Amino acid sequence: MDLSILQQKFVSIFEKEPEASFFAPGRVNLIGEHIDYNGGLVFPCAITLGTYAAVSKRADQLFRVYSLNFESLGVIEFSLEDLTYNKSHNWCNYLKGVIKYLLEAGHSINTGLDIAVFGNIPNGSGLSSSASLEMLMCKICSTMYAFSLESMEAALLGKKVENHYIGVNSGIMDQAAIALGQKNHALLLDCNTLDYTIIPFELEGYSIVIMNTNKRRELADSKYNERRAECESALAKLQPGFDIKALCDLTEEDLEKAEVLIHHPVEFKRVRHAVTENTRVLAATKALQANDLVTFGKLLNASHISLKSDYEVTGIELDTLVAAAWEEEGALGARMTGAGFGGCAISVVANDKTTSFIENVNRKYKDAIGYEASFYIASIGNGPTQIHSL
Ligand code: GLA
Repeated sequence: MDLSILQQKFVSIFEKEPEASFFAPGRVNLIGEHIDYNGGLVFPCAITLGTYAAVSKRADQLFRVYSLNFESLGVIEFSLEDLTYNKSHNWCNYLKGVIKYLLEAGHSINTGLDIAVFGNIPNGSGLSSSASLEMLMCKICSTMYAFSLESMEAALLGKKVENHYIGVNSGIMDQAAIALGQKNHALLLDCNTLDYTIIPFELEGYSIVIMNTNKRRELADSKYNERRAECESALAKLQPGFDIKALCDLTEEDLEKAEVLIHHPVEFKRVRHAVTENTRVLAATKALQANDLVTFGKLLNASHISLKSDYEVTGIELDTLVAAAWEEEGALGARMTGAGFGGCAISVVANDKTTSFIENVNRKYKDAIGYEASFYIASIGNGPTQIHSL
């Protein structure tokens, strides 16, 4: 992204120079899907696609905000005095939610800001553009108003915005992956305790190819909340028989007894996914640390199969992309990433095979689905940063 375009836009809209510019990444999840809200382990990383902002302080209480991605919306204005959710404020609600909860947490924000934003995370791709925006706003506020905000505190605040301000019942993974992002490292996060380890992630001779189905994720939120409800129902049935706080406290040996207690084939499948996925995350991080990419790839495949058959969050587009990837020479594994129901998949592909991989997978996808997929070679980047100051 050419930062000067954003800065010029800022000048033409707000008729002054920006005082500072910021960036926050998006994320991909390598493995550990739909288990952050089940107390499981996740293994995501921040990517170099993300959201940029040019910012300047105002003397009054107003926030005036403009996005190059939604130019038809023009400048959206709101005041510190009224931070209630307002549908017509569209994407700005993410910023308002962050400010509201920062204030509630006792941080001092007493004047407004002019902000111009540009994001290069493809819309609706499941690479966490909303968490990117939330973590960007946390970085903007802590810098411009000079208070300290720990990365995990920012992540929890972003989750609160999603859950209570926007109304999406998501877990902590996306915000944590972004807030704690480190170049060429992935985050192994225990979502039960919030303990984490930052693990070097450099695949010698291989790249992560992100494959976007370009399918609109219409039903994503309602289906997401449905899966969460199924897990909660199963947990309530299991707790009289097991001393557990979350589904991922179970082990694979417990599954037989769990099936009897749950007595509901669909809910049992959801539990089986959660428990086996948790095991796969541990195995995958071990494989990676031993430089065993072949095993790592096989675990990605097993994760996709479980998300397809047991958790049922893939769909024809993701399954077609992933099946096409599995057929390619030089691809060690592939799986959907993120919430599912459209969005993106990832594959570990040998560097000298990425061009043929993309051509072949795209051709098969287009033949089956009727339109093309998009492809990006992932670079693993840093968390939120200030990139310029006056
Ligand atoms: C979305 C949510 C995350 C996580 C994933 C699935 O990205 O925001 O909290 O649940 O789906 O792993």
